[in-house]
Amino acid sequence: MPAVVITFSNCTGGSAKTSTAAAVSIEFAKTTGKRILVVDIDPQRDLSKYFGFDQPEALEGQSNVVDVIKGNAPAKAAIVKPVIDNEYRGVDLLLGADHEGAALEQWIASSSLPAMYMIKALRPIINDYDVILIDGPGSMGIVGQGAAMAATYVVAVAVPLMKEVRGVTELEKHLIRLNDDVRSEINLPPLEVDGIVFARSPVRVPRQSPNAVRTGGTHYHDIIEATTEAYPDKLLLPFIRTSITVPDAYSAEMPINVFEPDDKASQDYRDLAATMIERGFTAPKTRSLAA
Ligand SMILES: Nc1ncnc2c1ncn2[C@@H]1O[C@H](COP(=O)(O)OP(=O)(O)O)[C@@H](O)[C@H]1O
Ligand SMILES: [Mg+2]
Repeated sequence: MPAVVITFSNCTGGSAKTSTAAAVSIEFAKTTGKRILVVDIDPQRDLSKYFGFDQPEALEGQSNVVDVIKGNAPAKAAIVKPVIDNEYRGVDLLLGADHEGAALEQWIASSSLPAMYMIKALRPIINDYDVILIDGPGSMGIVGQGAAMAATYVVAVAVPLMKEVRGVTELEKHLIRLNDDVRSEINLPPLEVDGIVFARSPVRVPRQSPNAVRTGGTHYHDIIEATTEAYPDKLLLPFIRTSITVPDAYSAEMPINVFEPDDKASQDYRDLAATMIERGFTAPKTRSLAA
């Protein structure tokens, strides 16, 4: 059975995609016992850092994601076991690379099937895992598009601001273009925004009765309303709260929920992972009734 692939995407950087991919992967491994792989495609390789690989290029003879994309190494050669607490074994990492983002875009663009680069890179290992989480880049350039192409589920991660909700619409436009230009031509099912995560939230928005949130203003109500209206059933709750411990966890090279399991952001990630599992994000996609 091929792995289910979840790609965390957005059209902006700094929306907590990487922090979310790291934390959610740990929760999935802990609570489902499934074989999990996280893929670091960002040239800043923050995801690799979260799993203790600060300078992957310093590891002699170690292949990385760019080697795999360029066909210079098999995917297996770029997969490492994070050296964090025993309790959190079960997440493998496809190692990031300190590459020039624009150069990789160019390299992929000049290949014969640019949109397929990630599908191709993952194909040899797709049966070795149950769930693969891709930490997409902060834009929908060629690298971001290919990361989305490999997805069973596309999850947008955004900070709860109106401008960011519009970023989700931007992402959706890119997916529609991929559907029209590529996927329909080769008989792949259409992509859509399957879930929306709001992170770095100053307020607590729980799983239950999100509209009960009291902030003294109407902004967060408006965000929830606008999102629910534009994307019925796609909002994944709770919001992940802002916590000063998240940057500390990054410096300590650990996902927040390994670094400080009782932190409020860790609690939120635990609940978010539960929501995602309940909604079927770790299982193969069944065609929605509307399709
Ligand atoms: N819940 C949070 N609370 C506080 N800071 C956060 C939180 N989530 C992410 N951050 C910080 O925001 C910045 C961007 O997060 P990151 O996960 O790297 O986003 P992206 O991958 O989308 O660029 C980082 O400095 C990170 O430490
Ligand atoms: Mg990132």
